[in-house]
Amino acid sequence: MISERLKTLSSLVPPARSLADVGCDHGYLLIEVFQKYGLDYAIAIDNKEKPLKRAHDNLSKYPFIPNIRFSLSDGLQDLKEEVEAVVIAGMGGMLIIDILRNGLNRHLQAKYILQANRNHYELRKFLYEYSMEIVSEKIIFEDGQYYEIIVAKRTTERLNYREEDFIFGPILRKERPKVFIQKLKADLKKLEGINHPSINQKIIKIKEILDEGK
Ligand SMILES: C[S@@+](CC[C@H](N)C(=O)[O-])C[C@H]1O[C@@H](n2cnc3c(N)ncnc32)[C@H](O)[C@@H]1O
Repeated sequence: MISERLKTLSSLVPPARSLADVGCDHGYLLIEVFQKYGLDYAIAIDNKEKPLKRAHDNLSKYPFIPNIRFSLSDGLQDLKEEVEAVVIAGMGGMLIIDILRNGLNRHLQAKYILQANRNHYELRKFLYEYSMEIVSEKIIFEDGQYYEIIVAKRTTERLNYREEDFIFGPILRKERPKVFIQKLKADLKKLEGINHPSINQKIIKIKEILDEGK
């Protein structure tokens, strides 16, 4: 069964009709998006043979296989098509930044759906520096793990983010979903008791965000 994380990522693709899945691995995301929301075409990208073959084997069972190009390549390097959406998920934030740094400028029209396993702060900062506005954010809790999803799109408007937006997410901060508050409380519990100036600063910031809801 497809995970809640992949379901949530897939639900963020519409209304895009073309999609590049960078680091497609098993190909489950593409199966979900084609089946549930429909796509005209997709590019399944992975830089390792085994995962790309796995994606091909899994996707071969479906009638939409002719509408997918499989690419054994690094990040966005081989993405020649103009796509409406790009998903990069299940990787470290620094790797996602590397992939974007090497290809974003050739694909500025796309909506980016990003799920980093860590380094969300650095990823948000990078997006800001490239004039990518965070237009949506989701957080889910699954199998004992929190997953944050960032949707970003190029803007010509001036972005006004504060440090707290990079740390916690501008949309998550504003919308304050239940799981976000649950994560802040869990982080606070973990950090309290550690006596270090940088940790103390983080504790103060988390408490401020929690207090904003009172
Ligand atoms: C942990 S899997 C995540 C799979 C899927 N995106 C998900 O979220 O479930 C990461 C995949 O990214 C691929 N990958 C890592 N670095 C990559 C790169 N620079 N370009 C393309 N694929 C990459 C790996 O081979 C692996 O299949």
